[in-house]
Amino acid sequence: MAEAEAVPHVEAGEVGSYRVRKARLGDVGEMCRIINHYAERQLMLPKTHLQIYENLRDYSVVTDEGPAGAVLACGALHIYWEDLAEVRAVAVDPALGGRGAGTALVEKLMREAREIGIGKAFVFTYVPDFFSRFGFVEVEHSAMPLKVYNECFHCPKFNKCDEIAMVVHL
Ligand SMILES: CC(C)(COP(=O)(O)OP(=O)(O)OC[C@H]1O[C@@H](n2cnc3c(N)ncnc32)[C@H](O)[C@@H]1OP(=O)(O)O)[C@@H](O)C(=O)NCCC(=O)NCCS
Repeated sequence: MAEAEAVPHVEAGEVGSYRVRKARLGDVGEMCRIINHYAERQLMLPKTHLQIYENLRDYSVVTDEGPAGAVLACGALHIYWEDLAEVRAVAVDPALGGRGAGTALVEKLMREAREIGIGKAFVFTYVPDFFSRFGFVEVEHSAMPLKVYNECFHCPKFNKCDEIAMVVHL
């Protein structure tokens, strides 16, 4: 199993670190809980356990350093085409917002995308200012490749999407 990457992190004057790694089967319950906390508030699309199991290899998690490695955040990189991937389902435990876990997660997904050879990543989001920190820029929905809309057909917001489309070239 690949070693988790340690991400230096400073909080309240104490230096600690998060662990960032690919998701495992045992993480799915916590990932579902975190994602659906925001989904209930209409901030993200809901995910079932089945949806996460089926796409588990897309997901990475941020964990704490404790022996159990509690899941603090999760997010996914989903490949669409030879040079295109989506960053999706990025969510930080609501009790732990603003402490760098979201940044650690997105940086990990961006590293993964570069390693795989992805040329362009996109995100649909309500938090454009957060994603602009990583180089994402806003684009018109109509500028997104048609392939992307395969997934949108299954979305409850199809035809009334109010999320902001953003793209980054890697
Ligand atoms: C958006 C989210 C992932 C950010 O995670 P986080 O761990 O709180 O973010 P970080 O601590 O890494 O923040 C890094 C920086 O981004 C900023 N930031 C965090 N959330 C932000 C937001 N919603 N809008 C704008 N800036 C934001 C922080 O202020 C911080 O800036 P600073 O370093 O200048 O203080 C998290 O709030 C979340 O899970 N939100 C709900 C789900 C969601 O909308 N996910 C995106 C789906 S596409």
